[in-house]
Amino acid sequence: AEGSTHTLMATVSQYACQRRTTTENNNKIFTDAFEVLAESYEFNEIEGRCLAFRRAASMLKSLPRAVRCLGEMQDLPCLGEHTKAVMEEILQCGCSFEVKKLLSDERYQTFKLFTSVFGVGPKTADKWHRRGLRSFSDILADRSIHLNRMQQSGFLHYGDISRAVSKAEARSLRNIIDGAARAITPAAILALTGGFSRGKEFGHDVDFIVTTPELGREESLLPEVIDGLKKQGILLYCDYHASTFDVAKLPIRRFEAMDHFAKCFLILRLEGSRVEGGLNSAEGDGRGWRAVRVDLVSPPMDHYAFALLGWTGSRQFERDLRRFAGAKRGMLLDNHALYDKTKNEFLAAETEKDIFAHLGLEYIEPWQRNA
Ligand code: CTP
Ligand code: MN
Ligand code: MN
Ligand code: MN
Repeated sequence: AEGSTHTLMATVSQYACQRRTTTENNNKIFTDAFEVLAESYEFNEIEGRCLAFRRAASMLKSLPRAVRCLGEMQDLPCLGEHTKAVMEEILQCGCSFEVKKLLSDERYQTFKLFTSVFGVGPKTADKWHRRGLRSFSDILADRSIHLNRMQQSGFLHYGDISRAVSKAEARSLRNIIDGAARAITPAAILALTGGFSRGKEFGHDVDFIVTTPELGREESLLPEVIDGLKKQGILLYCDYHASTFDVAKLPIRRFEAMDHFAKCFLILRLEGSRVEGGLNSAEGDGRGWRAVRVDLVSPPMDHYAFALLGWTGSRQFERDLRRFAGAKRGMLLDNHALYDKTKNEFLAAETEKDIFAHLGLEYIEPWQRNA
């Protein structure tokens, strides 16, 4: 077994889209440490180092077993001097001194706390930290601080939306969205995407594609679905973005840029009675409901496969798909389209399999994309 595993490790690709990564992580001891380091670089806007640690963690997650010694690291891609040094220390001492120091660092702790609020990113966290604010009560007591609508909802529903969403809750939400969409048009198409479509047991939200076969109709479908949820009295927050999609636009290079499809970021009220097996968390504090984050995106049907591939994730898998498309195939890929720069043409796709085929990649199932 030792020999064959070693061979497997020797052939690991540097691209997540050429690896199969399930939810089983055999290298959690290393990847948890890397995530703290990546976060810290993210808080300090050192993007290169942040990505290096995320890329290394992603590679380790794909391995069939734990890395056990320094020698095994030599054949693995995505590991630089810094990442290797951290791993070596963990192998020798059981933990990383640098990570331990960060976890007890006041700045790291404050950024971690502030960015855990829906609508608060590193920039806002930095602004608040510079003002000497250190806790939620500091922020809420400071009258000179203006919270936008998203942040207000973030604080209002903090307890609920920072609690993990279960598969059963995702199923209940699916029924709710499905009902709302079907009430508008029986032809509505609803697909679960994001972490739950990759087989994750828990998520921070639930992601869906909701659209219709009739081209152009999807743009008005989403506002109507939102209106339906509002009429049911379960819409607690809605950040709606109308479509700015233009078929002629080339795929965008920046990964973090938002796509152009009609979409919304919601907070919904999930009634306990609709959840099979009860809603433990909400029952715990005497309510029959909880607030939950839901994302809906409405691509036109002829771009469905790209939207599905883009929203299934993981983020690292998406990053590497794009990086691979550019570096290895001379193509541009984003959530809308695939463009071949050598042929100067868009490559159409009806399914995710078509896109993998265009890229000359073996098909990777959604549950193998937990990179
Ligand atoms: N996504 C996107 N554009 C956005 C938001 C998300 O393309 N404005 C994509 C992300 O790239 C990701 C997927 O949608 O691949 C799901 O994002 P998210 O819900 O943040 O992550 P999950 O993988 O679902 O993990 P979690 O369980 O934490 O929600
Ligand atoms: Mn999600
Ligand atoms: Mn997430
Ligand atoms: Mn999401």
